[in-house]
Amino acid sequence: MKKAIIGGTGVYDIGEGSYSKVVETKYGKVEVDIVNIKGEKIVFLARHGKGHSTPPHLINYRANIKALEQLGVKYIFSTAAVGSCNENYTPGDVVVINNFIDFTKQRPVTFFEGGDEPVKHTDMGDPYCKNLRTKFYESAKLEAIDIKGDAVYVCTEGPRFETAYEIKMYKSLGGDVVGMTNVPEVVLAKELGMCYATVGIITNWCTGVKGEITLHDIQGTLSVNKEKISRTFLRVFNGKLNQEHCNCKNAIITL
Ligand code: HPA
Repeated sequence: MKKAIIGGTGVYDIGEGSYSKVVETKYGKVEVDIVNIKGEKIVFLARHGKGHSTPPHLINYRANIKALEQLGVKYIFSTAAVGSCNENYTPGDVVVINNFIDFTKQRPVTFFEGGDEPVKHTDMGDPYCKNLRTKFYESAKLEAIDIKGDAVYVCTEGPRFETAYEIKMYKSLGGDVVGMTNVPEVVLAKELGMCYATVGIITNWCTGVKGEITLHDIQGTLSVNKEKISRTFLRVFNGKLNQEHCNCKNAIITL
């Protein structure tokens, strides 16, 4: 199984017949769904667990990514519900994440723990796979998804939302959208040499930007977009993919 979808808030399945599988990793157990699409098995992982039970700061990101690696996954598309602090990106819009700024505080962020291993660093020149991002743009046209553009993702620790002054700061640093889960997920995938890309679904204006954050906004926006986005992921997966068009598998610098 080479391809996986990690579904964020509101994206809990890909709407096809599937069976569940529990994968044991050294970081813990992970339950995934395996879906058969046109004769190929695609892995689906609900980031927050089935029923959205794990809050962002307690997600076992290492177990999740390790489980995908153990299944043979090399290509991951994920979705992320995000707030917007960029006036050009409004609730309901879809954006492609092209970089991140990390404001998380207390989560395990790496597989590289030293010990018997040499010291390893990970190149973040292109954190999100440029090949998967390009292919998402191309296939999204066929699903009539109006992608508003690329976006820089600010990752906060959560689970609280941000203060208005935090949002002012993130905006001044170049952030476009804010969420709580993309770091360390993107980093861990890169550490294991996988291609990883995220599509952001804007569910609300960030605190203090315009109006108030409401749960109603979040759920409505997600249900409109999730099917088209999943179909686009599957379209890309259905085409030819190889790791020669990006540097994802060569990102580790060993000292
Ligand atoms: N802030 C952080 N995470 C989020 C938001 C937000 O405004 N909306 C959806 N996830």
